[in-house]
Amino acid sequence: MPIKKVKYPVSMGKVKSINTTESPSRIENKSKSEEVFDLDLYPFKLKEQDLLVWDDQREKYIQVSKAVKINSITRCIETRDIEVELVFWAFDRFETVVISRGDLSKRELKKLASKGLDVLQDKQASAVATFLNKQEKTITPTNVHKGMGWDFQGGQLVYKHYELIAHPSYSTKSKYIGDYDIEPRGDYYDYLNLLAREVMGKPALQLMLCVAMSSLIIGMLNRTNLLNLDTLLVHIYGASTTGKTTAAMLGVSAAGAPTAGGLLQSYNGTRNAIAKKLVGNYGVPIVLDESTMNLMDMQNFSSFIYEIAQNTEKTRLTKESELKDSQSWSTTIISTGESSILAKSNKNEGLRVRLFEFSLDKWTKDGKNAENLKKGILNSYGHIAPKIAKKMLELGPEKVAFMLEDNKMDLLKRLPESKFKDRIATKLALVITGAELIELTLEFELEGEEIIEMLIDQELKAMSDREMAPKFYRELKQHIIRFKRNFKINKEPVATQQEIWGKIETSSNQTQCYILPVIFDQIARDYGYSDSKVLIDALKRDGLILHDKNKNQKRKFIFSKGEIDQREELLGQSGYPPKGDYTYCICYEGNILEDSF
Ligand SMILES: Nc1ncnc2c1ncn2[C@@H]1O[C@H](COP(=O)(O)OP(=O)(O)OP(=O)(O)O)[C@@H](O)[C@H]1O
Ligand SMILES: [Mg+2]
Repeated sequence: MPIKKVKYPVSMGKVKSINTTESPSRIENKSKSEEVFDLDLYPFKLKEQDLLVWDDQREKYIQVSKAVKINSITRCIETRDIEVELVFWAFDRFETVVISRGDLSKRELKKLASKGLDVLQDKQASAVATFLNKQEKTITPTNVHKGMGWDFQGGQLVYKHYELIAHPSYSTKSKYIGDYDIEPRGDYYDYLNLLAREVMGKPALQLMLCVAMSSLIIGMLNRTNLLNLDTLLVHIYGASTTGKTTAAMLGVSAAGAPTAGGLLQSYNGTRNAIAKKLVGNYGVPIVLDESTMNLMDMQNFSSFIYEIAQNTEKTRLTKESELKDSQSWSTTIISTGESSILAKSNKNEGLRVRLFEFSLDKWTKDGKNAENLKKGILNSYGHIAPKIAKKMLELGPEKVAFMLEDNKMDLLKRLPESKFKDRIATKLALVITGAELIELTLEFELEGEEIIEMLIDQELKAMSDREMAPKFYRELKQHIIRFKRNFKINKEPVATQQEIWGKIETSSNQTQCYILPVIFDQIARDYGYSDSKVLIDALKRDGLILHDKNKNQKRKFIFSKGEIDQREELLGQSGYPPKGDYTYCICYEGNILEDSF
């Protein structure tokens, strides 16, 4: 099923090339030192390895210093800083350095003597400064950017990828020179073919693409102040060689290189170092691979997750709030690892709404599927995110926010009740809207219904942990109070003709309810819980039950010898148990029977 109304299955007619084994080789940057050319800029002249100046008296060029010239000038569109790339002859070879334009003064140039620039004498430094000052006037700066994702430039919303994606009326061009390899590589149609061959029919892999593309929505809506969205954190965990890393790599390959130099980052490193990598990212997905590699203790890990989700470095937020903007981010992070992060943390609800966890038996179909994917996405990547950004600009942020809201409404109808329902629906709607944008942009039909089901299943599973047990615990208390006549209370017998369900022992500060398992299972079913074992496990984990060693149950004398018949009728067991019957013993604070009056 498509996510929305759009129905455009991948048409092979559109796909130009089926061959994924070949891909255009990358054009490597030529070494800058090769690019020094002779130059005439009266009265100066660059000739081979020398800078010359015209001497009027001698009527010939004389040497000023060894060769030096400006190769290029860049303007960072975010900071407006101008940087100059100088190339100069240092003894036996050309050297290239990048300096701030402010360092073109005579005094600062002299510092480059240590790198081999021929300016030891004052008059050399003066002449070189004069020459460079003259030469820079002949060069137009090229724009560059170091941040990624959505931003405002010249009052216009732009998506900073390797190039700027902007409204057609915005003519400024800029190239990415930041730390991540996001320059599109290979052929877009090879990538589409790979999706058609290896990702179609595999909702788990499609889910990862949608999760990755949610980063663009989060970045756009935050930057335009339409919504205030946390960074989305999705942790996929499970046994080794099930394709977790491959699936995560597939997700980010839509935006850039799924490699260590690109968007596949490791968990290795301090908490601050990892947070630093996110600064300035407003809409490009990142993988943090292998959580077990990180040695942070659980408490630190929990606050790290809070920090990532809140889009700002913790230290910066408190100490230097004026720097907040430059130290923030908002995007999507896919994390992988062998085990659940939540299971290790001590039942922290706040964490659970910030971190989505998925565990599947396998992410890829088989080893071959994983190998084909890895090979394919290393040959071709970085094509999809810019295309989606362009589509999002066409739609405009208001429409994108509307799509998100619409998907959220649909999800609210399908998600189980919980106090986090609204927040969770927003997060899952980001993924579904990611799917919708992929379909709209690529004219490619995803298995939408399966993806939605995976999200809802995951939420149901998480909810049994997060919400069901406490909810049932409250419901059970009311049930016991209501049907207290079916319990022996302290030493009191049960009123005649009542079925015996168990025993209640009260004191002023605690109530222990021993409930026969058949009755407990029935109550759980009556309240709509299909698996009473999950409930008991959760209550046990929360320390709300009394149990015998290594058991969930506790033995207790419920029936007297005169009640053997009743016992047989209820439990189907004859005779009298010498150590009492197995019960579930649920504990409540205070005397619940007195408090209820
Ligand atoms: N579904 C699968 N069935 C069998 N083998 C698989 C499957 N998926 C991946 N593999 C094999 O496992 C190798 C590693 O894949 P990948 O790195 O994606 O796994 P992973 O789940 O991240 O494992 P790890 O926990 O070791 O990091 C692949 O190159 C492939 O040979
Ligand atoms: Mg892995």
